[in-house]
Amino acid sequence: MTVKVRDFQPEDLDWVAALRSLAFGSPAWASMPLEGWRGLVAELPGGPCGFLRVYDYGQFFGGRSVPMGGLASVSVSQYARGRGAASALLDAALAQMRDAGQCVSALYPSVPPLYRGRGWEQAGVLEWLDLRVESLRGFDASRVELRPAVLADLDAMLAVYREVAVGIDGMLDRATAGFQARSLLIGQIRDLAVDSAGAVRGYLTAERANGSDTLVVNEFVAVDPASSAGLLASVGSWAGQLDTVAVRVLDSASCRQLLPLPVHYQARLQSWMLRVVDFPAAIAARGWPASTLLRPFTVDVDIVDEHAPWHAGRYRVTVADGEVRCEPGGTGAVQLSARALGPWYAGAASTPTLRRLGLLDGDPATAALLDALIGGTGSGGARLADAF
Ligand SMILES: CC(C)(COP(=O)(O)OP(=O)(O)OC[C@H]1O[C@@H](n2cnc3c(N)ncnc32)[C@H](O)[C@@H]1OP(=O)(O)O)[C@@H](O)C(=O)NCCC(=O)NCCS
Repeated sequence: MTVKVRDFQPEDLDWVAALRSLAFGSPAWASMPLEGWRGLVAELPGGPCGFLRVYDYGQFFGGRSVPMGGLASVSVSQYARGRGAASALLDAALAQMRDAGQCVSALYPSVPPLYRGRGWEQAGVLEWLDLRVESLRGFDASRVELRPAVLADLDAMLAVYREVAVGIDGMLDRATAGFQARSLLIGQIRDLAVDSAGAVRGYLTAERANGSDTLVVNEFVAVDPASSAGLLASVGSWAGQLDTVAVRVLDSASCRQLLPLPVHYQARLQSWMLRVVDFPAAIAARGWPASTLLRPFTVDVDIVDEHAPWHAGRYRVTVADGEVRCEPGGTGAVQLSARALGPWYAGAASTPTLRRLGLLDGDPATAALLDALIGGTGSGGARLADAF
């Protein structure tokens, strides 16, 4: 029986809420805003049986915001599973994202084979660090003032976040419709670090669940050492009352420098996958910091992608005068499967790694130019700090 896919309508909300609640064990969200995402519904002759939504997001790569379709809530009624409903939804979402200019797509997979089959691949992690609260005693709280954030501070908080996030590949651009900025202000603790001129230099949002001995720090963002120290000292003040603090990591390198991590510590990782939806558009959208340092060269690639036929085929990528251009044509010297593109674009896998995985083929010397262009080590992966 063929699965039909159509656009989500507001009238679908009740059954979608029930489906999603059952699929993910989460509360129904009928009251959630309908803005910032598009939904798709799968139907069999018995009625609607599947749903997904695509958030209107952006992700920073190379210092620029790349339009990203954030896939979420992928769910199919139990009776209808195994009949290609989720696959049909993904195919329709790919075509819609391409039309909407969302040239890359990210998701958090609970079922990786489903997404691998459609060209997504692991590209990075969202990370949480678990620490003893006492370890945060001793930070100098005297060089900055803390005060609670109010609605009027939201723009300043977003500006501080952006200052940090724009330099970290993979981080969400929170200026798009998909991000609910007011969510920053709903936690029990939402404190700002303010300098002597009154400018916001950092903020921290946190919650303590009922009866829990853990403080959950959802956001810790600071753009100078005094603000970092002041905010961390405020968390350390819970020593004696709370045992642990769980910190959602936005800036991994800074967190590792700042936090007094022992030789063994607990980190919890959540993988996310990336897919390039439209290769030439994705090349044009991201920044290429390494290109200004490289001498001119061209790389001829051949994209093999049966689920996104609009960008399959040969391209010549030209690097000259700090600019990177992508035009159809060339010899196809390096062949890249759909699943190679996400990890390469995110700097998560080098071309030798992709070759070992069977995702890349062709001339090794030409392929190495793709690594030089991305400028990463290909071993770390990009960062995302927002789950969706
Ligand atoms: C995961 C889910 C959406 C799959 O829906 P579906 O319509 O049965 O998927 P499809 O029939 O299109 O299957 C496509 C591929 O994914 C694979 N797949 C589907 N469910 C899987 C599972 N639970 N574990 C591993 N692989 C799975 C299928 O084997 C199939 O692979 P193939 O093409 O190699 O045969 C559905 O089982 C569901 O709603 N689960 C609960 C919610 C959930 O986990 N959603 C994913 C959130 S990231």
